[in-house]
Amino acid sequence: MNKSTAEIRQAFLDFFYSKGHQVVASSSLVPDDDPTLLFTNAGMNQFKDVFLGLDNRSHWSAATSQRCVRAGGKHNDLKNVGYTGRHHTFFEMLGNFSFGDYFKHDAIWFAWELLIGQNWFNLPKEKLWVTVYTTDDEAYNIWANEVGVPAERIIRIGDNKGSAYASDNFWQMGDTGPCGPCSEIFYDHGEHIWGGAPGSSKENGDRYIEIWNLVFMQFNRQADGTLLPLPKPSIDTGMGLERISAILQHVNSNYDIDLFKTLIASAIEATGASNPDSKSLRVIADHIRSCAFLISDGVLPSNEGRGYVLRRIIRRAIRHGHMVGAKDTFFYKLVAPLIDVMGNAASGLQLQKTMVEQVLRAEEEKFVKTLECGLALLNDKLLKLTGETLDGETAFRLYDTYGFPLDLTADICRERNLRVDKAGFECAMDAQRKRARESSCFNTDYNSLLRVDEVTRFFGYKHLEHQGWVTALFRNNQPVDVIRSKEEAVVVLDETPFYSESGGQVGDRGVLKSASGVFEVSDTQKYGKAFGHKGKLSYGELKLHSQVTAQVDSARRERICLNHSATHLLHATLRQMFGEHIRQKGSLVNDRYLRFDFSHSQAMKLEQLRRIEKILNEQIRRNLSIQTDIMSLKDARKKGAIALFGEKYDAQVRVLRIGDFSTELCGGTHAVRTGDIGLFRIIAESSISAGIRRIEAVTGEEAIASLHQQSDLVQHIAQLVKGNHQTLVDKVRTLKERSRQLEKNLQQLKNKMAVQESASLAHKVRDINGVKVLVSQLDCVELKTLRIMVNDLKNQLKSAVIILAVVMNGKVSLIAGVTQDLTNRVKAGDIVVHLAQQLGGEGGGRPDLAQAGGNNIAALPAALASVDSMLTAKFRVE
Ligand code: SER
Repeated sequence: MNKSTAEIRQAFLDFFYSKGHQVVASSSLVPDDDPTLLFTNAGMNQFKDVFLGLDNRSHWSAATSQRCVRAGGKHNDLKNVGYTGRHHTFFEMLGNFSFGDYFKHDAIWFAWELLIGQNWFNLPKEKLWVTVYTTDDEAYNIWANEVGVPAERIIRIGDNKGSAYASDNFWQMGDTGPCGPCSEIFYDHGEHIWGGAPGSSKENGDRYIEIWNLVFMQFNRQADGTLLPLPKPSIDTGMGLERISAILQHVNSNYDIDLFKTLIASAIEATGASNPDSKSLRVIADHIRSCAFLISDGVLPSNEGRGYVLRRIIRRAIRHGHMVGAKDTFFYKLVAPLIDVMGNAASGLQLQKTMVEQVLRAEEEKFVKTLECGLALLNDKLLKLTGETLDGETAFRLYDTYGFPLDLTADICRERNLRVDKAGFECAMDAQRKRARESSCFNTDYNSLLRVDEVTRFFGYKHLEHQGWVTALFRNNQPVDVIRSKEEAVVVLDETPFYSESGGQVGDRGVLKSASGVFEVSDTQKYGKAFGHKGKLSYGELKLHSQVTAQVDSARRERICLNHSATHLLHATLRQMFGEHIRQKGSLVNDRYLRFDFSHSQAMKLEQLRRIEKILNEQIRRNLSIQTDIMSLKDARKKGAIALFGEKYDAQVRVLRIGDFSTELCGGTHAVRTGDIGLFRIIAESSISAGIRRIEAVTGEEAIASLHQQSDLVQHIAQLVKGNHQTLVDKVRTLKERSRQLEKNLQQLKNKMAVQESASLAHKVRDINGVKVLVSQLDCVELKTLRIMVNDLKNQLKSAVIILAVVMNGKVSLIAGVTQDLTNRVKAGDIVVHLAQQLGGEGGGRPDLAQAGGNNIAALPAALASVDSMLTAKFRVE
């Protein structure tokens, strides 16, 4: 019986465990602290620093099944997905690693034993081919002389990619970093499939498929291309789980393995597709994997960076869904089957299922609104196209107005053997950026355009007053030597206690005092490495190179510090309550309140908000000390410090620790102990986009003020209803009940009056050609009552036409009633339409009862008078 993909993954890990390897969990798709990498694209990424000797592990060898994404950046397979049987945006890489423990010999023997061992993968030896780097005699000899692979199936590959060490058999993670020669193992799928052995002219066919890459890590490549030896020769291997599954399940295409068959079946169900062989289904099955795992690893669709790659993949999947006939949002429905089929490998995703589904659904709902229109425009352009290239302007319009990523447009063109003018697209994009820049000049803060080369040293962690020298002065964006009374300017100092806005914390305010003047600082911003104090000179003058005493508004700073420390407590509380998946997505800390955005799929219930407040206030009462340490990023991570995704940190970072409760990287200013915060209160909780919630809160005096405000309000209401705190709810409830009862009584009374009033109207009945007609305008009667009156009059008069009008709130309302016996001669609907036309309004209804309204009150008398002639004509005696 064939092994399932989940069993194959497990067998790999079990094999290496039996060989003394530590089984390590897959790392996130968002590389933790590597700004050079868009997404995790190989098993070795999480061990990069171990290879380089910069980090230690408790173990010398490890095995993983690593989730990888190759869609964007150096390795990008996006456009091939669906068109070949072996490319994916998302795949799992099985790998074993040695950190200076074993080297080539053991790496080769382990691989061989797992592949051919009867208790393991049991592959026929004669189907396996290997390659080695052209000068790697050591690897060649191990394969040929020890393992016994016949010479004709061992191929030496040289620098076949155009420069030194640029080779299929020399692996490197990126332009710099760990690298080394490698040996690849290929599987021959058999003569019936087109393709040739590695190194041959037909190597790109599907017959010989690379299944495992054994990298002999020996060097650290420098930016100038030189190779420095690693501290210890190491091993990094990678085997695509989907490829080995295809072989072990005796199929040629990865899309025919159990995992993809299940996903494709789910895609058929979700889209209602009728052709199970459609390439689009493969695309969808592939893309749900990258999208779901990217979102659960903290990426959200956006217009830049990682978020844009995700958006492109989602939109590509949605378009393919529509190609196979999806009528509704379908993509998010594949998350549940994905979790089922991935087993253990999806445990993290399982925890965030609802959030992931919501994000996908929201993104799809947004895109389908423009998809149809965009496709219509594109089809129209393609029909009229004369050459083979779609112009860049159209591609740009599709991008800008309809949200079509360029590769989506390119995809559609490719299906028709057409190309897109990518240069033209870029050109149109540049032109738009230029327009945006120009238009934004109108509201740009001129200070933001400053170029400042000075460097400012910050003294404000410990001091709120400090002496500094003026190193630059700017007025209207121009450097000046002096500023005078009442002039607005930016002052740069060599040293300052003023905090400049960053990490969500606002810039400080205060004063700069010199011997000749006082400068009021309203904000502090960073310009490169300089701190610019923005504000106005109150009096005197301030000269370049003069000395100033810089004094921060300490009361304001203190309030900011409380809010900042409370933000860290809030982050830690949320993680404690809801799990590690909570990630900060933005924050604002000022002197009035704090705002914290984080990934979470559901609205908080009132009891949850209260629980957050409870836990957080407990930490405040514990009066924990708040300490900072400067350390290397590595050490910070070891201490479990929370860092933000996508942020670039210096090698030395500031770690803020709040007792045993929170450890985070932070450059901001804080309280001394949590007790300083006094009190924490949530004032609002909301959603800011799919999967992201926002909490706003206040601390210290502001929290007390908000409590007072609320209790004053309750007091005020209690006085109004003549109750107190205990009786308030009952009092309000009774009042509401009473007013409902009164309204009911009033309506009954009005109905009674309406009946009486209609009796008194009866004398106004006139005869038009033998038919009783009553037309009247009333005062202050509600529409509801008017209707009762018309019905009542119909009953009284037995056979009649009744038209009642009322003017209220600047509008005319009228109702016409016609007794059944007359409806074949005149219809109430026709009467009101006739009147509404004159009143500048609209009307309609049944033949026996209709209603109209209009704004032209002045036209009412004439309109009502016109009824006579209308009815005279209708009731003419022949
Ligand atoms: N790093 C190598 C690869 O990605 C082996 O794991 O192919």
